[in-house]
Amino acid sequence: MKQELASIIANDEIMPGIHLMWLKSPPIAASAQPGQFVMVRCEKEYPLRRPLSIHQRDGDRLALLFTKVGKGTDWLAKRKAGAHIDILGPMGNGFSLYPTSHNLLLIAGGIGIAPLFFLAKQALNRSCSVTLLEGASTANQLYSRDLLPAEVEPIIATEDGTTGKAGMITKLIPNYINLADQVFACGPIAMYKDMALKKRELKLEGKSVQLSLEVRMGCGLGACYGCTVKTKQGLKQVCKDGPVFELNDILWDDPFNNYS
Ligand SMILES: Cc1cc2nc3c(=O)[nH]c(=O)nc-3n(C[C@H](O)[C@H](O)[C@H](O)COP(=O)(O)OP(=O)(O)OC[C@H]3O[C@@H](n4cnc5c(N)ncnc54)[C@H](O)[C@@H]3O)c2cc1C
Ligand code: FES
Repeated sequence: MKQELASIIANDEIMPGIHLMWLKSPPIAASAQPGQFVMVRCEKEYPLRRPLSIHQRDGDRLALLFTKVGKGTDWLAKRKAGAHIDILGPMGNGFSLYPTSHNLLLIAGGIGIAPLFFLAKQALNRSCSVTLLEGASTANQLYSRDLLPAEVEPIIATEDGTTGKAGMITKLIPNYINLADQVFACGPIAMYKDMALKKRELKLEGKSVQLSLEVRMGCGLGACYGCTVKTKQGLKQVCKDGPVFELNDILWDDPFNNYS
């Protein structure tokens, strides 16, 4: 893990309230893996760094994809090309792509495409076929088709029905699950709970489903226990043991002491 003042190459609002930021960060880019994240220092007054997934890597550059939800991400959205930000990473344990897997099903809810893009690129480099189910509240919150790798054809659902199937993206899982050797998901906790609850209906039983847990983090270093999650193997820290976990391993009834 390295700490670095990374220079911002570009910071564009690519969808309303959603920014794609490219950074020059040779030491972190050198070892980053899909599913890992960086801890970003957002202005000196905010002592707690914010966790953001590594969205893409291109040589010595890294991309972050983030939604403006509060003070930290609002500050980040205002940074211009040429400025520097203090980042720590790569952090955590990312996705495990098995050497025997050929067909992957990726499920992105909302900003969930953030870590899955990097995974899709890695899988395509290994000649896997990638199916992406992408869900958003409305059409203008969907990641642009033009920004996805050409080999990935997204299957879309929007909650308000403005494009694609109307409703939750999880409804489409049974139509695409049969060929999948592995399933990877990133989205809100409610999406994971739904998947866990409807495992049989969604035909997820017996499948490996790795997901990235997005919880509030204090330190990101395993020191504050602010990110503790209950699993079948006991209490785990999302920052250190995750953020990627198997769907089946989390105790979904009350994973965060009623936090979420
Ligand atoms: C491993 C990991 C990877 C993440 N990757 C991304 C990413 O790639 N892109 C992205 O947009 N976001 C990502 N997040 C969520 C991101 O960290 C938060 O949105 C961010 O910290 C909010 O900071 P803020 O100061 O803007 O908001 P705050 O002012 O701290 O909070 C504003 C609102 O956002 C909610 N919130 C804050 N932190 C989180 C969180 N960690 N998870 C869920 N809700 C939160 C708060 O409850 C509050 O309602 C990730 C989280 C984790 C743990
Ligand atoms: S965020 Fe502090 S222990 Fe995980």
